[in-house]
Amino acid sequence: MESVVVKNLTKKFHHFVAVDRISFVVKRGEIFGFLGPNGAGKTTTIKMLCGILTPTDGEGQILGFDIVKDQQKIKQAIGYMSQRFSLYEDLSIEENLRFFGGIYGVPSATLKERIDELLQKMEISTPPSTPLIKLPAGIKQRLALAKALIHNPEIVFLDEPTSGVDPLMRRKFWEIIYTLAQEGKTVFVTTHYMEEAEYCHRAGFIIGGKLIADNSPGQLKKEFENNVYAIESEKSIELFHHLVSLPFIIHKALFGKKIHIVVPPDKDISLLKKEFRALGYPVVSIEQIPPSLENIFLTKVKNTSS
Ligand SMILES: Nc1ncnc2c1ncn2[C@@H]1O[C@H](COP(=O)(O)OP(=O)(O)OP(=O)(O)O)[C@@H](O)[C@H]1O
Ligand SMILES: [Mg+2]
Repeated sequence: MESVVVKNLTKKFHHFVAVDRISFVVKRGEIFGFLGPNGAGKTTTIKMLCGILTPTDGEGQILGFDIVKDQQKIKQAIGYMSQRFSLYEDLSIEENLRFFGGIYGVPSATLKERIDELLQKMEISTPPSTPLIKLPAGIKQRLALAKALIHNPEIVFLDEPTSGVDPLMRRKFWEIIYTLAQEGKTVFVTTHYMEEAEYCHRAGFIIGGKLIADNSPGQLKKEFENNVYAIESEKSIELFHHLVSLPFIIHKALFGKKIHIVVPPDKDISLLKKEFRALGYPVVSIEQIPPSLENIFLTKVKNTSS
């Protein structure tokens, strides 16, 4: 069953197209990662899916509800963690959860139990009476997720939940996301951390409002398995700058003494070592390496804009 179905979804702000005819499907229990740089259109998309923003064009259903006609029903049915967490700093952990539980109509008889259960699941052991102002970002982040889950929704939309949180806390957060998916919840999560796409069942790349890829990390990598090489050279910085003049280099990145390059799959690179040596760049080795999602993303961005 599908939790999210979107077709040609578009949002314009006056003449500016923030989201440009995107179509995709998210299945129940799936972790769908929505990746893109600042200003790509992630928040605008998520807000349309959550019934907060009305699309300019296109259509979509969330849990069978229409994103234009059933915005109120969607807001009640889904969980949403906004980019700024939206918690009350002067209230305590428990007061925050009680407040949002009330808004979502969680019966008061079961609210206390629900809060305890969520705090346990989020691994928050800080006393519930602690005001938020005293909490580190990692705990606030998990509390914001608890808030989004207070009414036990089937699907949660998380807008850059891990930004501004340290790597350890980010990892912990992802473990909680896995638990949710295992329980059958659908998780739609935006991020600009490439490595987080690896944690998702499926990743969509958005740039300039356009969806430029939508597949499992494994499939995305398969598409590029013969395209990425590591060049090792003592003069890697000089060589790196020289690569600008080579039109077949789709993408390049420096990693210490090594340069990773992305080239078209039909490119014969066997002569490259000799060529570089002749130009005065001694090359120790050139070897094919598995693509990273960053390679793929940047290649797709380049292919889209050229
Ligand atoms: N209410 C608005 N009026 C005009 N332009 C807007 C509005 N909201 C967003 N935009 C523009 O639409 C584009 C997409 O914005 P959006 O917030 O969806 O990006 P994002 O991918 O969430 O970025 P970030 O990673 O910074 O959160 C940006 O260029 C933004 O300036
Ligand atoms: Mg955003």
